[in-house]
Amino acid sequence: MVILDGKETAKKLKEELNKKLSCYYEGGNKKCKLKILMVGNNPASEVYVRNKSKACEAVGIEDELIRLDENISQSKLEEKVLSLANDESVHGILIQLPLPKHLDEDAVTELVPPEKDVDGFTTKSLGLLAVGKDGFLSCTPGGIVYMLKNYGIPLAGKHAVVIGRSKIVGKPMALALLNENCTVTACHSKTENLKEITRTADILIAAVGRPLFVTADMVKDGAVVVDVGINRTDDGLKGDVDFDAVADKCSYITPVPGGVGPMTVAYLMNNTVTAYERSLKN
Ligand code: GUN
Repeated sequence: MVILDGKETAKKLKEELNKKLSCYYEGGNKKCKLKILMVGNNPASEVYVRNKSKACEAVGIEDELIRLDENISQSKLEEKVLSLANDESVHGILIQLPLPKHLDEDAVTELVPPEKDVDGFTTKSLGLLAVGKDGFLSCTPGGIVYMLKNYGIPLAGKHAVVIGRSKIVGKPMALALLNENCTVTACHSKTENLKEITRTADILIAAVGRPLFVTADMVKDGAVVVDVGINRTDDGLKGDVDFDAVADKCSYITPVPGGVGPMTVAYLMNNTVTAYERSLKN
């Protein structure tokens, strides 16, 4: 069994991106810019935003964290997003979620133009993915596909089972694996006979949000198991997979922490650099 090392793989991806940007900058091109909008000061968001900012620094992306008052009105926030959308010097826009309850998250997110939607959260981005066209794949699925390929894990023709159908992870994950020629089954809370399905998976992606949900009897011998879960429990941070029980059955498995998490941040960097490169070509 091989541990899929997200920290190492993320480091490699960030180094590749740093080299790319250094070449552009040496050629006299302008800087790659990411704007991060954060409303209020949700403690979990503070940690995520700090990690994203650190990654930008390592890659050579000029990031700016725009902090907005937690009582900001919907219209003022929308105005801010639209001003960044119209600013040609900005290549990527990220609205850190969740937003305070009084704000309409979907309405704000949808204002990010597809060419700057480095989170891949808009309807247009998901639509482009569905038809197999160039848009932005959201960062967790993107990071997972990058990591599987980096370890030389074959995807074409394999049966991939995704548990979870969120807009940010489950759905784009299923579409991304379909675009990689996997045979994909999308499972969720209403799925009947879940165990019978997961036991046929060559690649099993757990994005359920329930600690230790995937047990050894749900996993086929030799499967590749990817754990998207980050669940805070009384026993500390736990994934969606019962790692200790499942690991021996797998050919490859991601740990929590140190698996998918670092890849998500690295793939945000990848999307931002892609947005920059596309803008240079236009
Ligand atoms: N909140 C938690 N994770 C994320 C993420 O990946 N992107 C954004 N925009 N907000 C988040």
